[in-house]
Amino acid sequence: MSEREAIDQAVADAVGGIDAAGSTRELNDVRVRALGRKAPMSQLKSRMGGLDETERRELGRMLNEARERIEAAIAEREAVLAATEEAEALARDGVDVTLPGRRVSSGHPHPLALIEQRIIDVFVGMGYRVAEGPEVETDWYNFQALNIPPDHPARSMQDTMYVAGTDLLLRTHTSPVQVHSMQAQDPPIYVVVPGRVYRRDPFDASHSPCFQQIEGLAVDRGITLADLKGTLAAFAREVFGPKQQVRLRPSYFQFTEPSAEVDVLCITCEGAGCSACGRSGWIEIMGAGMVHPNVLRTVGYDPEQWTGFAFGMGIERVAMRALGVPDIRWFYENDQRFLAAFA
Ligand code: PHE
Repeated sequence: MSEREAIDQAVADAVGGIDAAGSTRELNDVRVRALGRKAPMSQLKSRMGGLDETERRELGRMLNEARERIEAAIAEREAVLAATEEAEALARDGVDVTLPGRRVSSGHPHPLALIEQRIIDVFVGMGYRVAEGPEVETDWYNFQALNIPPDHPARSMQDTMYVAGTDLLLRTHTSPVQVHSMQAQDPPIYVVVPGRVYRRDPFDASHSPCFQQIEGLAVDRGITLADLKGTLAAFAREVFGPKQQVRLRPSYFQFTEPSAEVDVLCITCEGAGCSACGRSGWIEIMGAGMVHPNVLRTVGYDPEQWTGFAFGMGIERVAMRALGVPDIRWFYENDQRFLAAFA
């Protein structure tokens, strides 16, 4: 085979390989085989040493021309392959910027938090300050300082959760914060105290072993039961509606004297009497009374100079009435269908 034929053959082989290459990686292999050190063209080149001047020039020219043809073919094929590969990569990794985004729903306060805030706002508007106290209490703060003697049934194992191996307990009401607040400052004092309380109660439609209260305490010169009733009536109008009324029924708490259960007009029938209020027209929302002189004495306030009232309401109870929720458990199940109704 003449050199000319050998070169033409090498170019034909290379062009065949180039056209057959299906990827830039395969094309690279073809390039090495056609132009690399072991390629037929390189071998022809190594023969040039034995040729005379004219033959050498001629062979060199043919080899260069052949190399240029091969390189041109590679460049052409490479452009095609690279474009295809880029298109494939884009299709594979591409992001469709025209797709609508996923909606992120924004959170909102829990209905109990909303009601708690509304109640607090009403009292802050009347000049009260917000106070808080510990959920784990001593017997003294939860009971003794509130005039509840050691043998009183309210502190029996059935009602109170004790912290095993200590003399501590989970507070059964927010009333111990009355004592903390009065110890921390001299009268006059006007505070509202939101917080969690614990009782050994079942978890059913109207009970929960953990629930929330708002305590109120006002101690000043000359405070009377009329101030208590007026304050609570203002609160009821703000939270339950402008036509609301409150009714005080005699009751008993160790730390108030006199004591009362406080009713508001039934939200459903507005006083007419219906199944929601047991036909009475009223629903009970809190306990209240005039601070017992023994409690005032315990914190060093002189009951001859200072009098006061206190009240305590269950936030869940108020929320159930204000929002028409029939089951206390709904507040704790975190069912989005329920919670979203208060967004
Ligand atoms: N602490 C009482 C309870 O939990 C409520 C209350 C508070 C009553 C303040 C009177 C005065 O039932």
